[in-house]
Order: sequence, then C-alpha cells, then structure tokens
Amino acid sequence: MAEGKTGTTKVLMEETRIFEPPKALAENCNAWQWAKKKGFKTEKEMRAWCGEHYLEFWDEMAKTYADWYKPYTKVMDDSGMPYFKWFTGGKVNVFYNAIERHIKAGKGAKVAYHFIPEPTDQAEKDYTYQEIYETVNKLANGLKSLGVVKGDRVSIYMPMLPETVMAMLACAKIGAIHSLVFSGFSSKGFGDRVDDCQAKVVFTSDGFYRRGKPMPLKPQADEATKGIQSVKNVIVLKRTGIEVPWNDAKDVWFHELIKGQSAECKTEELDAEDRLFILYTSGTTGKPKGIEHAHGGYCVTPAQTLHWVFDLKENDVWWCTADVGWITGHSYVAYGPLCLGATTIMYEGSPDFPDFGRWYKIIQEQKVTVFYTAPTAVRMLMKQGEEWPAKYDLSSIRLLGSVGEPLNPEAYIWYRKNFAYDKAPIMDTWWQTETGCFVISPLPMTPCKPGSVAYPLPGFNTTIYDEEGNEVPLGEGGNIVNPTPWPSMLRAFYKDEVRYKKEYWDMYWKVKPGTYLAGDKATRDKDGYWFVQGRIDDVLSVAGHRIANAEVESSLVAHKDVSEAAVIGKPDEIKGEAIIAFVILKKDVKPSDDLAKELKTHVRTTMGPLAIPAGVYFVDDLPKTRSGKIMRRVVKAKALGNPTGDTSALANPEAVDGIPLI
Ligand code: WT7
Repeated sequence: MAEGKTGTTKVLMEETRIFEPPKALAENCNAWQWAKKKGFKTEKEMRAWCGEHYLEFWDEMAKTYADWYKPYTKVMDDSGMPYFKWFTGGKVNVFYNAIERHIKAGKGAKVAYHFIPEPTDQAEKDYTYQEIYETVNKLANGLKSLGVVKGDRVSIYMPMLPETVMAMLACAKIGAIHSLVFSGFSSKGFGDRVDDCQAKVVFTSDGFYRRGKPMPLKPQADEATKGIQSVKNVIVLKRTGIEVPWNDAKDVWFHELIKGQSAECKTEELDAEDRLFILYTSGTTGKPKGIEHAHGGYCVTPAQTLHWVFDLKENDVWWCTADVGWITGHSYVAYGPLCLGATTIMYEGSPDFPDFGRWYKIIQEQKVTVFYTAPTAVRMLMKQGEEWPAKYDLSSIRLLGSVGEPLNPEAYIWYRKNFAYDKAPIMDTWWQTETGCFVISPLPMTPCKPGSVAYPLPGFNTTIYDEEGNEVPLGEGGNIVNPTPWPSMLRAFYKDEVRYKKEYWDMYWKVKPGTYLAGDKATRDKDGYWFVQGRIDDVLSVAGHRIANAEVESSLVAHKDVSEAAVIGKPDEIKGEAIIAFVILKKDVKPSDDLAKELKTHVRTTMGPLAIPAGVYFVDDLPKTRSGKIMRRVVKAKALGNPTGDTSALANPEAVDGIPLI
C-alpha cells in the first residue's frame, strides 16, 4: 500500500476480463475513420497525438463540427488564467448550429425528437427540425415581447418535454442565459437558484405526469418565486390541463405567448465566450454552485464527443435517458444530438411504468440503436430479473453507454448481456457538469474492461496527480486533473470568484498553474485502464490506508445476493475510520447474521483484509440524488446521529428514515 499521506491508493482488485469490440464496428466507427485519414496506426498513437497537439486538434474539431458567422482569430487564450477563453474573435450561436443550419441544408423534415408520453393512452409525437425551428422562432419573439434581452437570465423548471428544449433554444437564439432546475426539485431548491441568478423570466408547466397521473408543478414555481423581485413573468406550458392558480399580472400561457408571433426571428450573432447557460450543481458546502458555460464551446464538444464515442450516423436512433434538467440532458439530449442533426427518443416518464418492461418496449418499438443510461438504472432493472428484457427484441442496439458513477463489473456484465446479447460494447463515460462533455471514455474501437472508463479522450491531457502535483505511476491512484483546458470547460461560478478558484484551481496553482482539479479520485491498472473511485471526500482512510468507498461497494454488489450498497467511514479510535456497509439485497433474499458474515468474507477475498467492513446493515432503500447517485454523506450523517441537512433535493427522502443508527 502507498503511504496515506501522499493521498494515493493502490488498485486492490485487478480486472482481467477484456471485451474486444465487433470488428465491423471498430473499423467503420467515426473516430477510427478520422484516425485512419490522419495516418495513425493505433488508437493509442492517436490519443497521444491529440493530447500533445490539443490546440491543433480542437481547432480542427471547431471547424469540422461548428458553423461560424465570423471565424475566430485565436483558438485559446490563457492570458487571464484560470479564466480561459476559447475561439477568440469568433461569432457564433448554438441555435444556428443545432437547428437553423439543418433547415438551410434542406433537412427540416427529419425528426429531431420522437416524444413518448408517460400515460400509455396518449399518442406519441414526432417533432421535426422544421417544426422546432418555427416554434422556437415564435417563442424567441415572445420572449422579446416580454422585454428579455441578451444577457438576461431565464430559469426553466419544466418536465421532460420537447418544449423544455425549445425554451432553452429560444433563450440561446436571442442571447439570453438559461438556467434549468430539474422539475423534481423542491420549490425551495428552485427558488434559491432563481434568486441566485436573478432571473427575469421563469418557464414552468401546469403539471407533469408521475406514474401516469397528473401532478401539479405551477404551484411550486409560484411558491419559489414569491417575493423574488427580478422575476417579471412566468411562462406556463399546458401539459396536463389541471387547474392552476393564476396571476394575471405575471403569468402567461406558453401557447398564448407564441400565438400570432412571427415564425421568423433573426438569430443573435454572439461572441464565442457569451454565456449560454448556468447550471447549478451541489458542492461540498450546502450552497449550490452556478456553473457557467459558453456558446462557442457548446457548438463543438457535445456534438464531436457524441459523434466519436457513440458513433452517431445518419440513421441512428439515439436514446439518452437523462432528464434535460441535468448536464447529461443539456449536452446529450439537447445540444449534442441537435447539432449533429440526429433523431433522439424523449420519454417523459419512469422506467417502471406501467411495468418494468417499459424501456425495453420502447427500444423494441423505436428500434433504438444507441442507448445511454446510468448505473443506478441498470442495477434497478437487474434487480427485477432477466425475464423482463427476455420478453422483448433488443437486437437493434449496437452501442450502450453509462454515466454518473462507476458501473460495477457485476452490473456491467448484466447490462451487456441483457440489453444487447453481448454484441454491443459499453461506453462508460466519465465527465461532469463542469466539463460539459465526455472526458474519459472508450471509443467504439477500444477493447473494454468491466468497471473501467478506459482512457482520456482525444484532446484531453487528463491525468492523475498525487497531493504534490506529481503524476502517479500506473497501479497507483490520486486526483483526476486536467493540466490543459478544453472548449466546453466551465467558465466561472456565477458571481463567486473566490469559490471558483478555491474549488478547482488553487490545489496545484503553485506547482502547475492552470491545472483543473476535478474532485474525483482514480487509479490506472498496469495496462493504463482508468478506474474512477469516487469523489475526493469519498475516500476512506483505514489504518492509514486509503480505500475508495466505491471499490468496497463494487465488491459487495458483485456478491450474488446484493443489489446495491453504500459504504461509509465511521470514526474509529484505533484505525481512524472503520468501514460500514449498508446493503440492499436482491428480491427474495432474506437478511441474516450469517449473510452479513459471508459478505465480510466476500470483501476479504476480493479486496483483502484491509477492506473488510466492520459492520454490515441490511436496508430496503438508500437515499439518492435525482441523477441516481447514492448520497453517502446523508447515509453517514443519519447513521452517526448527525444532522442530515437539507434533504429536499433527494429523489427519495423517505429512504433516510430506514438508515439505522450505528
Ligand atoms: C460526477 C459528476 C456527467 C454526467 C452526470 C453527473 C461522477 C460521472 C462517471 C463515470 C464514475 C462518474 C464523478 C463526477 N461520475 N461519470 N462514468 N464513472 N463516476 O454529472 O452531477 O456533475 O457529477 O459524477 O464523481 O465527478 P455531475
């Protein structure tokens, strides 16, 4: 083991399984086509060259993937580090790239979104590029009529609907800055964010569907914006038709706002650095961080990474299950696929309505070819058993994807087998709200190891540093860092310069200024494959040895009786921290002392004696964020009898009650 004080960890579990991609896929994929054209002999050679020549690489990508009103004069300007600027002097607009240019190219009739409502008795609907173009133009004119101008902030609190993307696009078109807040957030959570960015206009809907039933949303938006002076208007989309409270002075229906507006509206020619959106993400302190992103970067990397990693081709049917309210939805439901002119499935509801076959049924009916979801969803479906996928024909799938947390090897193998009969490689993509696009990921030609995110993508020099800023050797772990900038990087924290510098740039400023600290730990095995171990604050220190919570969880989930696990550290006088595991068992497995003992032995055999949990507790549920991450911090607080803080942002706050005091 490495010394605790250096902050490094060693790989305790070695993964030896390797999955080679199907030959035809590897040969013909977009990424390899580019590499061949450039004369690269191997993938490794290509990745290395693109990192070393990252400015040249991004310059080519910016010219390939985006259309510019006016060409930029400089690819990247680091004179104001850590406020990097990209594509200086260039004029651009992501709306032009996402929609308008496809109309000009005569591709308006292509379906941009195939919308599938949650209630099974409602009709599915196609939205073409042409229809989106016209509606967004009307909506942009409507926003102007309300006095919204370039630079104004517009908060969007809407369910998973094509209109939500249209609201984003209307803002982008006129240079207003959108700020989405996931519609499952409490009104307090939403209000704090509206207030922080001082939004002028708020978008919401009368309601949304949950398990097929209409639920109100507008009252939460009213509650949230009560007393916030900056909010002049609330635009309300009619989705469910339920009665909602109405304020004539402020409220306006979405359909009435666009009625009578012209379907023509000039797209604002913006500076590449003009802000496109603010998206709030939670940090270590309670206050959410408003991450700012810019137009220029967003015209390039979501499209390029989607094209390379998921190999989208003209006739692909892409389905990313993330809600548009999260970064995954921003980059890979909205901007990325639209900029590529792709067809995307948008499903309004949950995977278990009306039963656990819903997702499989959609894949079968729509002939989805590329499917991207989160490990928590995979594990949830895994728990329901193989009989559900077996009822459907999923042979259309040629690539699978995962994001959000480590995909445990157990879930990885199940996902491959049950979603695509072991024929489709899994692209496990590591990235963050802050990065705007995939950063570490396999490409379709990469041989994959279960649980690994493979290597940094072309254009990234992502590596692993110890606490002093030295690159760690293979086999050891440390902090994920980006020593060089990238086009869709975060630009700032909304009005919080101090925290921006402190959280991302201060750590290595003295030794390597301009190095981005991601806040995650990772290791690389002897072959250079990356394994993400979790957030910096989620690494345990047991008897001077650092062990990632995620690694112990992975070991537990690999046991045949375990469905999900959360591991926390309990203060221990002798060891510093003792490992405590909370475990959800698979359907029909009974908890017992013997099983708890067996699980400890299992961790001992897979990871070694250092990692044996001091306690194993069986629970029915674990508190999770809306994006599906288990909130270890909340589990830990509850288990140790400390205040759990604000749990309103959780998907299942009731799960907290089931965590025992230990
Ligand atoms: C954090 C970012 C980026 C989209 C969804 C979440 C974790 C993300 C992976 C992965 C292991 C992952 C990291 C990261 N994460 N992808 N493939 N393997 N961990 O966005 O809410 O900004 O969270 O999610 O810890 O820092 P986010």
